[in-house]
Amino acid sequence: MRRPLVAGNWKMNGTREGVVALIEGIKAGLGDTNADVLVCPPAIFIDSVGSLLEGSQVKLGAQNICQEAESGAYTGELSAAMLTEFGCSYAIIGHSERRHVYGEADKLVAERVAAAVSGNVTPIFCIGELLEEREKGTTEQVIAQQLDAVLKLDNGVALLKETVLAYEPVWAIGTGKTASPEQAQAVHAFIRSHLAKQDEALAVGIKIIYGGSVNAANAENLLGMPDIDGGLIGGASLKVNDFLAICKAAG
Ligand code: 13P
Repeated sequence: MRRPLVAGNWKMNGTREGVVALIEGIKAGLGDTNADVLVCPPAIFIDSVGSLLEGSQVKLGAQNICQEAESGAYTGELSAAMLTEFGCSYAIIGHSERRHVYGEADKLVAERVAAAVSGNVTPIFCIGELLEEREKGTTEQVIAQQLDAVLKLDNGVALLKETVLAYEPVWAIGTGKTASPEQAQAVHAFIRSHLAKQDEALAVGIKIIYGGSVNAANAENLLGMPDIDGGLIGGASLKVNDFLAICKAAG
């Protein structure tokens, strides 16, 4: 069985005070859950959020990771070694904002996935099509190409066995316009069928979470689909009650 995962991607949001209130609220309200729950704060808050989370079941992740595992001349980057020292067990990689605002290409994203796995950080490897690609009918092609960037590495299948995938249709991110449960399920099923061509166990075992305008009201229907194993939550992860409702829907 694939254990559900609900991950909050705080993006570039938060203040010293706000972060404390958010974490204390999540810890107080979470209760028993069958889902893994994760928060990914901006890097500047990783240390303080890590301290606030001590002893709690909520896990800590980063919003990106360097393709080099240790240290070196990579201005603005954080390595797997640094992230693990500060308690991060996950890193979001290839988020559409990194791909489309900062120009991170498939090859770099794949290298970041490899560096994360070799540094004992679980990648949350994001894939998803633009609106124009969906309208042109090329969604599956785009998704396949993004997956293939990792699959064609020497140890691609092994890397993906250590990875969580996040399907985030770019047109549904921050727009309030979510994919319907059926639309999301269709892409998740396609992802499994594409991976099955390489390795059946990978296709069955890999966790694929959905992201894009997930909220307290739509979470149950989206996360109830058979190939959707949780959510990557943006805006709603900044509101305690909404995030807790989504965690409840998952677990
Ligand atoms: P929203 O939930 O705000 O649409 O953001 C989704 C997302 O990009 C999570 O990584």
